[in-house]
Amino acid sequence: MPSEVKIRTGRPGDIAEMVALLKMLFAIEADFCIDSRRQERGLSLLLKSPSALILAAEAGGRVVGMVTGQLVVSTSEGAPSLWAEDLVVEPAWRGRGIGRRLMEAVASWANERGASRLQLLVDQGNETGQAFHRRVGYELTRMICMRKHQE
Ligand SMILES: CC(C)(COP(=O)(O)OP(=O)(O)OC[C@H]1O[C@@H](n2cnc3c(N)ncnc32)[C@H](O)[C@@H]1OP(=O)(O)O)[C@@H](O)C(=O)NCCC(=O)NCCS
Repeated sequence: MPSEVKIRTGRPGDIAEMVALLKMLFAIEADFCIDSRRQERGLSLLLKSPSALILAAEAGGRVVGMVTGQLVVSTSEGAPSLWAEDLVVEPAWRGRGIGRRLMEAVASWANERGASRLQLLVDQGNETGQAFHRRVGYELTRMICMRKHQE
């Protein structure tokens, strides 16, 4: 197994591998649906958006991990703030610092764009995800997530 892992921006040719990674992630996130076409469309929209970033962790020419980030303006902060989503590392590649590197890289991209706060959602049952995010500096807030779908 090659040991060198490069963190780079995502590109259209990564979409199929990223859809497979998202399938793994959404399988543990009860709120989200596995639907390859939607995930392809979402990734294509992110690639085109000037306020979004997709990062890939590449090893041996394959994408073994990813994260996405999007900027919104926070009136509380009076500045942009980052929503980090879609963080997942292939099981065989976990525990080698790839998740931390992906989160640091997306934070640094946001920092360069003036973001003063970083935020994300974690499934209530995802203890691994919560432990990881605590370890890399995130803390629980008093906010909960509510949502509504429309046609
Ligand atoms: C969460 C996830 C991305 C972590 O990726 P990873 O590459 O294994 O994490 P790293 O090796 O970079 O770990 C970074 C730090 O978190 C800690 N950590 C990782 N997993 C942990 C766990 N389950 N419990 C406690 N700490 C953990 C590591 O010990 C490490 O600490 P250190 O840098 O101080 O030594 C990976 O486990 C994963 O893909 N899980 C399934 C998808 C998921 O839950 N995504 C998050 C959704 S919000």
